[in-house]
Amino acid sequence: MPNLFLSLFQSPLLPATQPLTYRLFPDGESYIRFETPLNNQEVIFVDSLNQPNEKIIPLIMAADAARQEGAQRIGLIAPYLAYMRQDKKFHPGEAITSKTMARLISQSFDWMITIDPHLHRYKALSDIYTIPALALSAAPILGDWIRQHVTNPLLVGPDSESAQWVSEAAQHAQAPFIILEKTRHGDHDVDITIPNFPEIDQYTPVLVDDIISTGQTMIQAAAHFSVSPYCVGVHGVFSGSAYDNMKQANFAEIITCNTIPHPTNQIDIWPLIASALAPQ
Ligand code: R5P
Repeated sequence: MPNLFLSLFQSPLLPATQPLTYRLFPDGESYIRFETPLNNQEVIFVDSLNQPNEKIIPLIMAADAARQEGAQRIGLIAPYLAYMRQDKKFHPGEAITSKTMARLISQSFDWMITIDPHLHRYKALSDIYTIPALALSAAPILGDWIRQHVTNPLLVGPDSESAQWVSEAAQHAQAPFIILEKTRHGDHDVDITIPNFPEIDQYTPVLVDDIISTGQTMIQAAAHFSVSPYCVGVHGVFSGSAYDNMKQANFAEIITCNTIPHPTNQIDIWPLIASALAPQ
């Protein structure tokens, strides 16, 4: 079955000209048209789910239309998968939106590949996704980047959740790591405490996290170091003025993977995705 890769939101991986028209009508409704036959093809949408609210409805509609046009299987490559942090009711009455998102995607696509989804209280995507859903880890390539670019690094995870990817990245960086403690009081309000580590000032700190959203986690963590830390994130969401705020902090450099296009992208995840797609 031939593969046809499509992007509604212009993935930099795919040709700028796509056999697909996607635009909004003046009233904000989606217009989707496939400019090529889809009969008997495996149609693979390649779109990160940052700004998820504006992307998910068009993607679901496109998947539904692709099936009506004769596509045999429909996959989703979403290097950044949104809504994974809403994985429990933190307060009575709250929506566990990760489950709703999982249901919507599982109903519309036959399979999915993503990178470092925020698995905290869920052990695997299969806890909530009912389709084959592959979570690739960028930790090895983060670690390799750090080994090649940073002298005498000490990897720093800003909170307990980060231990899973920081420990793996540290192995590849051939460097030690520490995990800080974070208390979140609100969307833009976090407190961070740092454990004792002998001769910490002899190292170049490298903060490593899965998501940079408001940037406050990274900014508050950086404030604990006298040596300017590197800031390395898998997914640079950079909400609102996050990037401007981070540029005012004392980072040696801010680096992200290209799961979401941004000037800080220095680590290429597409070879990782290509190898997951290659026939075994
Ligand atoms: C939280 O659980 C994630 O791993 C990140 O630490 C968090 O999303 C970062 O958010 P912000 O940049 O808004 O502090």
